[in-house]
Amino acid sequence: MSFPVVVLISGSGSNLQALIDQSLAGQLNLEICAVISNKANAFGLQRAKQAGIPTHVLDHTHYSSRELFDTALQECIDAYQPKLVVLAGFMRILTEKFTRHYQGRMFNIHPSLLPKYKGLNTHARAILAKEKFHGVSVHFVSAELDAGAVIIQAKVEILSDDTPETLAQKVHKLEHIIYPQAVKWFSEGRLAIDNSGAWLDNTLLPETGFQYSSS
Ligand code: GAR
Repeated sequence: MSFPVVVLISGSGSNLQALIDQSLAGQLNLEICAVISNKANAFGLQRAKQAGIPTHVLDHTHYSSRELFDTALQECIDAYQPKLVVLAGFMRILTEKFTRHYQGRMFNIHPSLLPKYKGLNTHARAILAKEKFHGVSVHFVSAELDAGAVIIQAKVEILSDDTPETLAQKVHKLEHIIYPQAVKWFSEGRLAIDNSGAWLDNTLLPETGFQYSSS
């Protein structure tokens, strides 16, 4: 039986595409039940349609409060009864009520080595701070922004000629490896979360999660 997920996007949807591609290739046993965007022009919606996945647009500007938007979003998601909600470039701050509802069954991908560089413009900030390394983290979503238990991270070295754009490209390549990996672990029942953090195969992961290495 394939594992039902709902994916939330706001933009290009390249992480969504990685999940679609790995599912088609048989590397992931997922049923992507629906893709939901808060932006009508998100390119990821076309990727979903191309793959025959139902799409929904919930434009947050049509709601008078964050609470009303999140309630509508929750109804839309829950109609599909997913076992996991995957935030893939979904650029919205979520209410505590919403995050509590999906506690332990919602992932986010964030382009930094959490707990460093929460929030926006992470690539530029890492360069400006003269960091040696930058990267990406997949984490369980908690009420606090970009602060839930980290599942997996991948690192890249920052080279002297890197710009925010070149760094973003390198990070994106790693995103497309580690996000499907985290979803695969969860779909196989290998991941869990409790008050002490994220667990993989009954082993507590460090604060920075499993460290991906290409070798
Ligand atoms: C990705 O780089 C992801 O890490 C980032 O948005 C991009 C979406 O790309 N997410 C965040 O910044 C969340 N705070 P995509 O639409 O091509 O998957």
